[in-house]
Amino acid sequence: MNSNELFGKAVEASANSYSPYSKFKVGAALLTESGNIYTGCNIENASYSLTMCAERTAVFKAVSQGEKNFKAIAIAGSPNDDFSNPCPPCGACLQVLSEFCGDDFIIILSDGEHKLSDFLPHRFNSENLH
Ligand code: THU
Repeated sequence: MNSNELFGKAVEASANSYSPYSKFKVGAALLTESGNIYTGCNIENASYSLTMCAERTAVFKAVSQGEKNFKAIAIAGSPNDDFSNPCPPCGACLQVLSEFCGDDFIIILSDGEHKLSDFLPHRFNSENLH
């Protein structure tokens, strides 16, 4: 599975986006070290702050299925089904990804590959708790 293919899976996943309020569809495709793919979409709520992002939907699906070793995530977001503009992960999703992923974890956007450390260079993690 190359970057373009994984990005295509994220675009596909955005079709299930439940986003009647923002009208901004997001899809994510999370590739595990074992080669499985977990997809997610954003799921909004009339009580806006309860909205769940596509990336966290994908991570929580994977972890709840017993998978915690991740290689890459592709993210596609758009207000109009044109996914050419990059949709970077929000801070909450970066923090959740950071629980399971190292600095070199790959984040694929419409403009190509990035590393988790590009977005979250000084992250809070379990080491800070000791
Ligand atoms: N959204 C995501 O799904 N992922 C992100 O990383 C950024 C934002 C969603 C949340 C909301 O449903 C919509 O995009 C607009 O903020």
